[in-house]
Amino acid sequence: MATRYRGLYSKMRAKKAARGTWQAHAPSGTSHLGLHKRALFILLWGHAMKYFYLSFCLGLLTLPVSVAAEDGHDAWLRYASIDAASMRAHYDMLPATTLALGDSPTLKTTQAELIRGVRGMLGRTLRADANFPHEGAIVLGTFGDVKTTLPAINLPTSLREDGFLLKTVVVKGFPCLLITAPNDRGVLYGVFALLSKIARHQSLTGLDEAQQPSAPIRWVNEWDNLNGSIERGYAGGSIFFENGSVRADLTRAGDYARILASVGINGCTINNVNADPRVLEDSFLPQLARVAKVFRPWGVTLSISVDMSSPKVVGGLDTFDPLDPHVAEWWQKKVDAIYKQIPDFGGVVVKADSEGRLGPSTYGRTPADAANVIARALKPHGGVVFYRAFVYNHHLDWRDPKNDRARAAYDIFHPLDGKFDENVIIQIKYGPIDFQVREPASPLLAGLHSTNEAIELQITQEYLGQQRHLCFLPSLWKEVLDFDMHADGRSTPVKELVAGRSWHRPLGGFVGVADVGMDANWLGHPLAMANLYGFGRLAWDPNLSAGAIAEEWTRLTFGNDPVVVRTITAMQLTSWHIYESYTGPLGAGTLTNILGSHYGPGIESSERNGWGQWHRADHEGIGMDRSVATGTGYVGQYPPAAAKLYESTKATPDALLLFFHHVPYTYVLHSGKTVIQHIYDSHYEGADRAQELVRQWKSLDGHVDEERYAAVLARLNYQAGHAIVWRDAVCTWFFRLSGIADAHGRVDHYPDRIEAEGMQLQGYSPVEVTPSETASGGKAIECAAQEQSCEATFRFDRPAGWYELDVEYFDQNNGESKFRVLVGNQEVDEWVASDHLPATKLNGDSSARRRITGLALRPGDEIHIQGFPDGEEHAPLDYVEIHTWQRDQ
Ligand code: GCU
Repeated sequence: MATRYRGLYSKMRAKKAARGTWQAHAPSGTSHLGLHKRALFILLWGHAMKYFYLSFCLGLLTLPVSVAAEDGHDAWLRYASIDAASMRAHYDMLPATTLALGDSPTLKTTQAELIRGVRGMLGRTLRADANFPHEGAIVLGTFGDVKTTLPAINLPTSLREDGFLLKTVVVKGFPCLLITAPNDRGVLYGVFALLSKIARHQSLTGLDEAQQPSAPIRWVNEWDNLNGSIERGYAGGSIFFENGSVRADLTRAGDYARILASVGINGCTINNVNADPRVLEDSFLPQLARVAKVFRPWGVTLSISVDMSSPKVVGGLDTFDPLDPHVAEWWQKKVDAIYKQIPDFGGVVVKADSEGRLGPSTYGRTPADAANVIARALKPHGGVVFYRAFVYNHHLDWRDPKNDRARAAYDIFHPLDGKFDENVIIQIKYGPIDFQVREPASPLLAGLHSTNEAIELQITQEYLGQQRHLCFLPSLWKEVLDFDMHADGRSTPVKELVAGRSWHRPLGGFVGVADVGMDANWLGHPLAMANLYGFGRLAWDPNLSAGAIAEEWTRLTFGNDPVVVRTITAMQLTSWHIYESYTGPLGAGTLTNILGSHYGPGIESSERNGWGQWHRADHEGIGMDRSVATGTGYVGQYPPAAAKLYESTKATPDALLLFFHHVPYTYVLHSGKTVIQHIYDSHYEGADRAQELVRQWKSLDGHVDEERYAAVLARLNYQAGHAIVWRDAVCTWFFRLSGIADAHGRVDHYPDRIEAEGMQLQGYSPVEVTPSETASGGKAIECAAQEQSCEATFRFDRPAGWYELDVEYFDQNNGESKFRVLVGNQEVDEWVASDHLPATKLNGDSSARRRITGLALRPGDEIHIQGFPDGEEHAPLDYVEIHTWQRDQ
């Protein structure tokens, strides 16, 4: 690929034409993908037309079937054909008929899904019968209907709502498979469970299995804005809104509801927690009703985020004081109007007194006052209020060492325990700060005995690589869910607390911030959907291991080839730790740019401002002292046994040391390393392991369909390059601050690197980069704006051999510069910097790598890099690194 030359300008035109479709999100280094995409499109179109014709002849068009497109749209519901006859034979015993006992919309959907799945995987179309056939059948129905129709069958008495039973039974002498549940939704979940078993090639012989969810609340939040953008969304625009209204075409919203239902997610809040008050305007309610309609067949309850000031802003009152009777009346009328349009409306999410949102503090009222006024309006209809505990002051005085944002949720909500109505749920982020790569479990999770709570997890990778980096989150979530708070001196793991079991709360559970978008594969990175899957599975059963979840997801998403299952599962399971290693180890936070993108390195951005994401690094040491004895006292918010774990440096696990304690760089960890050496080592190890992920993925060439193979490879290559940007930025920053050298001599010493500013420049000039640690040597080069093209040249002076060239450049989102690399007169690569990274400047967000492999270089070769600026992006370059090339790397 590297030595290919197809003519820069024709290629650029092709790229421009392709932009707006898949190219818009493809990382650089993927120029060969355009052809694949086009070929695939032609192929798939052919398939689609064939399917259309066949379906038409067979009268099947009412039953949706997806063509074999592996673009990720079907997520883990691909229902890929089981081709091996021996494996298919295992399912010969499945009846040919399905009988639905009832005709609710959900049951109809359930039966259609069963037919769709069986046809996809086994190539047979089940007969849908309305009456009991004189043969075996897959019987679908609620307990109520089963009792009436088949009174002889024994049903479990203790299964909770949404739970289900899969059971082999004999009815009228015929062997049947019964899928039954206390409610319709449970039957749907039962069908999904059955189909998942078939997709994973599991045996159905003698099936007798009951499952039930750990908690009633298993919801996702989507932070979609009415204009179609998504706060912290990284996979295209909103599937719900565009131009201030609900989208005309809600097909994807319906498809999404199906995906949610397949893992037991039963509610979805469709708009940003930073809520636009317009969602409550009367004219908007029928639009919301349209979304509810596409959710309904899948048992997904619609909910919305509301702004506390709505009575004033939308209702025209002169106050939104929750204790004002007019305000209460306004909420009541509004909620009644919603239920008129949407009788099964789920309730509302409230973010108030947080990050600039108005709230009850305006009138000296409490979160309980605010939550209850809405809860009382919802109560007669069975709706709930999720009141978010993410309430903190972002104007904290950073000079005061006793100030601590981590304390806020507990300080505010613990004293209100018991003051919230029964249909209020306090929605608590898993950690006390904000979705960092590692945080301890929020102490508030153990601080509400007489109030419902739900844990808020983040599926969209806001601080965790934004779906450009692989980061399997069930590993992180499991650490939190399994953490035992020892509240009341007994075992109270977080998973039990949030499910409402520890203190017998009627409501409780899990909320995941998903932020799926219009990109075909929902979350951008083809492997990131494992996080949505994992969220659903853990909300259903938090005792599942991360490994079991990764394996299930891989089988469903990529098939059962043992090599594929082993490799992808292993990659997923190591990915969180890898990401943590090259971003923010030891609990210091993600060390990202917290004032902007939350993406690339930005170590100083946390400090000397009111946001309170401090790590307090100085010349001597690093970390927040949150102990009771000498620090902010945050540790005292935990029940005594957990507090004991964190109060002393000795007891605190290394992974969280800097979250709880300020220590000198020379402090020796349990591992035996000093803090500073750990920082260096972990960043080098993490970046190496990111490179290893590329190698692991490459071992699947030929085992995975081409489209997803190429898409994942492109992201992993990008990640491997960006991990080095992270590594160098963090290590350089700490080296400069601490003055302590890396024991292995790597930091600030790059023998294979040629700085761009040290090359012979034509039209290019050196520029300072801010923050300086995000460019090698603190400097880059940029082409003068008026130039058509610029050139940087250096002479290769190593022995003749095969080499690879890593060109580190900057890819801003306000221009699409082009680059060409020539060895002597021969062009060896060219590309366009057209990725959509979150940056308009040169920094750690925009720094990107182009790897040119398999170059035969000779001493004395002149290597030229030509840059063609575009818009505000001036073909910026940082450095070139040259390594010997091994073919299989
Ligand atoms: C984070 C995130 C915001 C979001 C907020 C929240 O701070 O960066 O975009 O609004 O969390 O959870 O409310």
